[in-house]
Formats: sequence, structure tokens, C-alpha cells
Amino acid sequence: MPALRHLVRELSGRDLISTLDWSDEEIEVALKLSKEFKEIAHYYGTEAIPKVLAGKVFYMLFFAPSTRTRAAFESGMYFLGGHAAYIDATTTRLAFGKEEKAGEAVKDVAAMYDVYGHGLGIRILDKAIDYRYGVGNAYIREMASAANIPVINMADDMYHPTQGLADILTFIEKFQNPQGKKYVIMWAYSPEIRGWCSVQEDMILFPRFGVDVVVARPPGFDLDPKLVEKARQQAKEHGATLEFTDNLEEALRGAHAVFPRNWASPTLVQLGYSKFKDEELKIYEKYKHWRVTRGLMDLMDKHGVLMHVLPIFRGYEADDEVIDDPKHSVIYEQAENGLWTKMAVLALTMYGVK
Ligand code: CP
Repeated sequence: MPALRHLVRELSGRDLISTLDWSDEEIEVALKLSKEFKEIAHYYGTEAIPKVLAGKVFYMLFFAPSTRTRAAFESGMYFLGGHAAYIDATTTRLAFGKEEKAGEAVKDVAAMYDVYGHGLGIRILDKAIDYRYGVGNAYIREMASAANIPVINMADDMYHPTQGLADILTFIEKFQNPQGKKYVIMWAYSPEIRGWCSVQEDMILFPRFGVDVVVARPPGFDLDPKLVEKARQQAKEHGATLEFTDNLEEALRGAHAVFPRNWASPTLVQLGYSKFKDEELKIYEKYKHWRVTRGLMDLMDKHGVLMHVLPIFRGYEADDEVIDDPKHSVIYEQAENGLWTKMAVLALTMYGVK
């Protein structure tokens, strides 16, 4: 592994749009720093965290709602001595997704944030882009090409990198050595249709830590084939496996963690939600039983846990008795780790940015 100091320098000024853009060593550095922030905060309080971003501003441009991500980035910037500015895109002149030419050019917006701040986070997914796959990611990539300051993906239609870091950190904390452990990403019924970012993020990231990933989904709910291929390559390079199945019980047998999450069908993300919503819901109805119950948890390893990025749809994605089982649910630890991993990404990318 290259010297830590070299890696930290390398990450200054970098974007984080997908964890695929960072090397294994760079991801290890982000996790190491996350753990250090967590330890400092637990032992001495958040006021003891080094103020490495004093005088710096992180702009957070939200095209879509958030309960956790906004709060974690905002607290994180404060704990690091800087300031986070929340921008609700609907109150700006960006007008994304409306008539062409209605909004400002991306390069004009990037030039402004370059001068006003030291980092720019963007969230753009789901209803904000009518669920059309690739549209949000293309917007973030365009902004990143135009901006000189680091651009951080706060969730788009393809990836959710800072969430993925929190998820793998939680898994490692729970199981220490992740190599050979089994992580099930499970499609689950929900009346609220969700995009692919969180499930795809874990699918591409966990195999890099040697975790055997199983994607359990009903027929017709496949994910981006290009990312599936990338995840397979990662698995091969790191001595892990990636499997797809529609046999839920088989998938869960002996598993160490399960992440039940609704996601849209490929047809919906191709056509757009507005054109396909009713058909999608009819297809969903057939799979209402795809939800984590106590019986399914009993098939898992005896130390097996429920994981979830949140929000979790109680009674749909998992039953309350599973979600609230303190021995077998780590969802709140995972949400906490979202704070430390976001802080690590902020500190690494924005430190040294003028
Ligand atoms: N996990 C996550 O991104 O949560 P929010 O959508 O509430 O930010």
C-alpha cells in the first residue's frame, strides 16, 4: 500500500462520483479516517475533531429529498470547522428537467461554486429525473468536468458512494474479517418505487472487500448489466463471488447480512416513471411477499443481521420485529457510520483546496 501521506495528498481536490473512481487503497484510507473520527467523537466528543476544514464551504445542491444525507454532511462540515450551505434546487434558476434552455448552463453554475466554495455535493435521482437511468449521473459528471473544486455525489440514479462506504464500514465492524462472508441484496416490495443507487453501490463495493454478494430479486428486476459486469470483475480480483437468484430462501441460507430494498424494473428506468407507473405497480403486486420476516432471518447465520441504508418501509421491506431486534439489526449503527464516512470524504477531498 502506498504511504498514507501520499494517498491523502492524492485525494485532495478529487471528486467522488462512484467508488469505482477510487482505488482500493484510497477507499481504505477513507474508511481508516472514518474510524478515527468516530473514535475521537466517542472518546472525547465531536468538539475534539480536528478542524481541518476551517474557513471552507461545502455547497449541497439537492434536486431530491433527504432525511440523513443532508444532515450528516451538514453536521460533518461543522465538526470539521467549516460550513455547509444547503441549496434546494427548486428554489434556484437551474430548472433542471423542465424545458430545455429554461435553466442555466452547467458550466456557468460550476464557475460560480468554484469561487464561492471549496466543494460541491449534488443529489439528483428518482422523481427529480422521472427515474430515467443515467440522467442524474450524467448531470453530476458534467458539473464535475466543469468545476475545479471537488464534486461529491450525494446519490444519483446509479451510485451512492458515501452510503456504500458507511455500509461496508458497518459490515466490517460487525464481522471483522469480511472475506468469505455472505451479503444478500434483496429486492423487497414497497408501495414507494426506489431507484438503483444504493443497491448498485453495495453490489460494486462489497466484492472489493472479499464479500460474497448475492442479489435476490424476482424475475424482471435486473440491474445495470455494465455494473453487474464490473462487480463480477471486482469479485474475481478479490477472491469473492457475485450471484443472482430468484430463490429468496436459498439466498438467505447462511447469510451474514441482508439488505431488503425496493427497486424499479429496468423497463421503468428506461421509459420513465410518468409513462410506466401503473404497469409497474401491477407487476409489484405479485411480489408482495418479498419482505424480511423473522422466519427468513432464522435461515441466516446465527450472527446474521439486517442492514438498510434507510428510509426503510416498515411492514413492506421488513417486519417491525426484525427491524427493532437489537441483536440482529444494525440499521442505526449504519446511519451513524454515514456521518463518519461523509466526514472522511469531505476532509480528504477538500483539505488543501484553495
Ligand atoms: N440513506 C440516505 O441516503 O438517506 P436519505 O435519502 O434520507 O438522505
